[in-house]
Amino acid sequence: MREGASELIYEIRGIVKKAHQIEKFGQKIFWENIGDPVQKNTTLPAWIKDTIISLVEQDDTYSYSDSKGVLATREFLAGLNNKKGGAQITPEDILFFNGLGDAIAKLYQYLIPSSRIIGPSPAYSTHSSAEAAHANTHPLTYNLNPDDNWYPDIEDLRLKVKYNPNIVGILIINPDNPTGMVYPRSILDQFVDMAKEFNLFLICDEIYMNVTYNGAVNHTLAEYIDDVPGISLKGISKEMPWPGGRCGWMEFYNRKSKPEFDRLCETLENAKMIEVSSTKLPQLAIPLIMQDKRYPDYLKTQSEKIGRRSKMITDILSPVKGVKFNETFGAFYNTIIFEAGVLSYKQSMKIDHPGIRKLVETWVEEEVVNFDQRFVYYLLGAKGVCVVPISSFCSDLLGFRVTLLEEDEELLPLIFNHIKDGLNEYLNS
Ligand SMILES: Cc1ncc(COP(=O)(O)O)c(C=O)c1O
Repeated sequence: MREGASELIYEIRGIVKKAHQIEKFGQKIFWENIGDPVQKNTTLPAWIKDTIISLVEQDDTYSYSDSKGVLATREFLAGLNNKKGGAQITPEDILFFNGLGDAIAKLYQYLIPSSRIIGPSPAYSTHSSAEAAHANTHPLTYNLNPDDNWYPDIEDLRLKVKYNPNIVGILIINPDNPTGMVYPRSILDQFVDMAKEFNLFLICDEIYMNVTYNGAVNHTLAEYIDDVPGISLKGISKEMPWPGGRCGWMEFYNRKSKPEFDRLCETLENAKMIEVSSTKLPQLAIPLIMQDKRYPDYLKTQSEKIGRRSKMITDILSPVKGVKFNETFGAFYNTIIFEAGVLSYKQSMKIDHPGIRKLVETWVEEEVVNFDQRFVYYLLGAKGVCVVPISSFCSDLLGFRVTLLEEDEELLPLIFNHIKDGLNEYLNS
């Protein structure tokens, strides 16, 4: 295998195997590992389901679509983008994939291995793993600073870009997974300045662009990119939410401004052409759902709910000593960081069930585990809460990611009180 093959690690799913082993002993598992609103009891409104049912009844739905995606949908999405007044596109600048994960996997694959894209740390690992796999080495990252609202450390990025001529692009995730932060325009403009100075292109993962709350304003890449070449990554998995539909797309901005960038866009289109096309049903549904007068209110209500949960979780976890976190404004995660020096290899949580205790003790003794992974395994064994360690988000920080998705209003405080109790017990053991 190529060296890059070992970079394909995805702890968000990897931890599930361990949780299933614990589940076999009869322990109830609270799934806090994955950003799937439907798994956390979100139900799509009847009008959205009716729209999809009407499409299911039409024969045309079952055919292939254009390689780039359904033309009417691309026309609609280009119009939506162009209305904002930033970088203008045509339907030809939009390319559909089978979920944004598929788009991400293809995005880095065709660049020569020595051409690197630098991305944030902590990182949403689908990006960092795919980029590292293409380069046959570890990911290149710039720091997000937990002591400055998780905003990017622009100086750190600047130095890395300046001294690494292999860097050809910068990845921004806004709103961000796993930190839940939404970047102000002043920071986004600095990415653009840097791209201009060092002749880079920008990639912005905007899958959470319509999931903002508690006063946050989201700026999309097209609005601030100016004349820099760039790719926006969008999808329906989170906002609609329809993750099982496997539908996401790329928008190419200022494509003709650099021949190398145009060639990349063309290669991505060709890659989709040899696959024929992507999932058609969700593509057909997009304009029908997004143009419906009920959609903006629906998005607002969903985001407000996440905002309320964000505050509720802050209230529950704030009294815990030894951890820190920021208030979130977008997406539906929070990242809880352990303060320096509070973790050791001696800490534990009481696990009543002997079989589960033995399993967790074996994991922490026999596997190479980071301090935060160790905590995560104990939390899983003792409290049944399944979270993901931050060390597996390509970060030197120690902590874990939770989701803000639980719709069941009785279950949410129960889960986060389990986390709080687990933290207190572990840190004081
Ligand atoms: C930042 C980000 N990008 C992309 C994806 C993948 O989305 P999809 O379900 O469309 O593959 C996710 C899913 O969690 C995500 O958080």
